[in-house]
Amino acid sequence: MEHVSRRDFTQQALGSLLTFTLLDTLFQRDAFADEIKPITAKWLADVNQLGVDLKDEKVKQLEWQKKILELYQQVDLPDLMQLVDFDKLSKNIDLPEHGARSLSFKFQQIDGIPTKQVFGKQIFALKKGRSVVPHGHNNMATAFLILKGEFQGRHFDRLEDLDKHMIIRPTIDQKFGPGGCSTVSDFKDNVHWFQALSEPAFIFNIHVDNINPNSGKSTGRVYLDPNGEKLSDGRIKARLIDYDESNKLYG
Ligand SMILES: [Fe+2]
Repeated sequence: MEHVSRRDFTQQALGSLLTFTLLDTLFQRDAFADEIKPITAKWLADVNQLGVDLKDEKVKQLEWQKKILELYQQVDLPDLMQLVDFDKLSKNIDLPEHGARSLSFKFQQIDGIPTKQVFGKQIFALKKGRSVVPHGHNNMATAFLILKGEFQGRHFDRLEDLDKHMIIRPTIDQKFGPGGCSTVSDFKDNVHWFQALSEPAFIFNIHVDNINPNSGKSTGRVYLDPNGEKLSDGRIKARLIDYDESNKLYG
């Protein structure tokens, strides 16, 4: 057996370390900036197709939630950030004192990227302590993916609509870091609330609007105060509020 001296071994190990360090530096300096992997283009095409299937009622909302979560969990985060030109988008932005700033963006046009998407999209940018305030939606399915920063993310099931209240029950209350994701539909985890624990903090968001054109309910946010009267079985009687009050209380 060949004898490897401690000295040789150390030199070899150092050699590998140097290679890794060099590669690391090259990536950090965006040496491959224009090279978004085909798998990420395919990923976005899959996300879009899933939205088309939801609109065409080939996929139910609960199934969409499960599948979009799987897709979000598979995505190459650095690639996605490149696809939305995150460095440019997040440079020199003014973060609001309350609430979240919604940044609009376009996907880089590369082979395999659908030129038009069936879903709406935005990136939220927040200061530490600020929130995407608690709200539900009507006739809409949406999904969050943390790009940068840490969040406390909370979801609630919407159990009942009353005149001036919504009966909700907490379903998710956990920390989310980069790559963390969650979904909302008319059937499960309907209400969400994300508070930034660090800054700047960014959330990638897509939403499929007006899923059922016959529902009579227009897509939009419904603001509520989840700090409401505690009922049996973990339910909460949450007061419906307007955006200004929500922003004051939770933004
Ligand atoms: Fe939302």
